[in-house]
Amino acid sequence: GLQIDQSDSDKPQLLFTLSDEIKCDEAYSLKVAEDQIQISASTPKGLYRGWTTLRLMIPVTAESGGCSKGFYLPVVSIDDSPEFEHRGLLLDCCRHFMEPDFVKKMIDNLSIHKMNVLHWHLTEDQGWRVEIDSYPRLTEVGAWRTETDGSTHGGYYSKETIQEIIEYAAARQVEVIPEIEVPGHSQAAIASYPWLGCTGEELPVANQWGVFKDIYCPGNDSTLRFLESVFDEVCELFPSTKIHIGGDEAPKVRWASCDKCQKRIKDEGLADENELQTWVIEHVGEYLESKGKTIIGWDEILEGGLPEGAAVQSWRGMAGAIEGVHLGTDVISSPTSHCYLDYPLSNTDLEEIYSFNPMPEEASHGPGRVIGGECNMWSERAPQH
Ligand code: ACM
Ligand code: ZN
Repeated sequence: GLQIDQSDSDKPQLLFTLSDEIKCDEAYSLKVAEDQIQISASTPKGLYRGWTTLRLMIPVTAESGGCSKGFYLPVVSIDDSPEFEHRGLLLDCCRHFMEPDFVKKMIDNLSIHKMNVLHWHLTEDQGWRVEIDSYPRLTEVGAWRTETDGSTHGGYYSKETIQEIIEYAAARQVEVIPEIEVPGHSQAAIASYPWLGCTGEELPVANQWGVFKDIYCPGNDSTLRFLESVFDEVCELFPSTKIHIGGDEAPKVRWASCDKCQKRIKDEGLADENELQTWVIEHVGEYLESKGKTIIGWDEILEGGLPEGAAVQSWRGMAGAIEGVHLGTDVISSPTSHCYLDYPLSNTDLEEIYSFNPMPEEASHGPGRVIGGECNMWSERAPQH
C-alpha cells in the first residue's frame, strides 16, 4: 500500500487531473499506486467525487488530526460514475425549524455520501421559512406558530443566510432546489395574508399535523400576482434551474364552494377542480419557464393532466413514476415504501432502504426518464437536536 506520511511531503503524492477522456461530468478515476494518488475527471465535480472516495478510504480520525503516525491506503484503481443524476434528500425545515448550521451539517452528510441535491422544503401550513421582501408578513406572521401548550415555535432564513447555505452546498457539489408549495400546504401564507384563501377568513399558522382545507384561491387574480412575486424573489435567490412547486395533498372543498374559483373553471373551460389545480400549476410553470426554470411537482400533479414541462416526484408508491415516464417526462422516485426517513424503523428499515431501486422495470423503456431518487425527511416528529 501507499503510506501517507507527513515527513515525505516534498514528493508530489496527490495529483488532480482534468481529462477529456471521461465523459460523464460526475465520473472519475481514482488510482492509488505505491508512490502516488491520481484522481482524474472531466470536471471539478468529478474530481470532487473522486476526492470524496479517497476521503472514505482514510481512517475517520485522519481528518481530525488523529493519525499522527500516518496511515496506509490500499493500492486500488477505481473507475466510478453515478447511475442516476439526481440523488436527493428532502429536508422539511417547516414542521420544525432547523438552524442554518444544522442544515449545513446535513449538506456535509449528503456530500460525503455523494448525494447531490438538497430539496429544501420551505413553505408549509405550520410555517413559512423563506424571507420574501415584497410580502414581509410571510415571515413576520407566517414563520411563527403558537403550539397547543402556548409556547411559540418558528424561525426563518434571511436571504443572506440562504445565499450562504447555497454557496456552502455548491462548494460541496450539492445543488439546493427550493420547494414552494402550490396550491396546498399554504395555511401559513394564508395566515399572513387572508385574501390568499377562498374564504378571506383569518386563520392561525397551523399548530397540528395533517392536511388542511384552506389553500390558495386560484380564482383570485391577486393570488396569482402574489405567487409570481414570490417566485420572482425565489428565482433571484436560487440558481438551480429546477424549482419544486409542491402540488401534493390539496383538498378541493374550498374551491368547490368558491365563486371566484368556479368562475375560473368556467372561464378557462376546465372540467373540474382537478383541472383547476393543473391550470394554476401550469400558470406558475409558464411563469417560471419565462425565467429559464423548469418545475418539479409531487405525483398529484398528474391528476388533472400533467402540467406542460413538469417533472414528477412519485411518493405514493411508484405508480406516478411509471405514469410520468410513460407520459414522456422526467421522474424522481421517492415512494413511502422505501424513502420516508421519518417513518418508524419498524416500517422502513435500513435493509429496505438499501434495496431501493428508483427505476422499476415498467419505467425503464421511456419515453420519459427516471432521473433519480430522493429520501424524504419530513419533520413533524423530528425537531432539530
Ligand atoms: C408528501 O409526502 N406529502 C409528498
Ligand atoms: Zn377560490
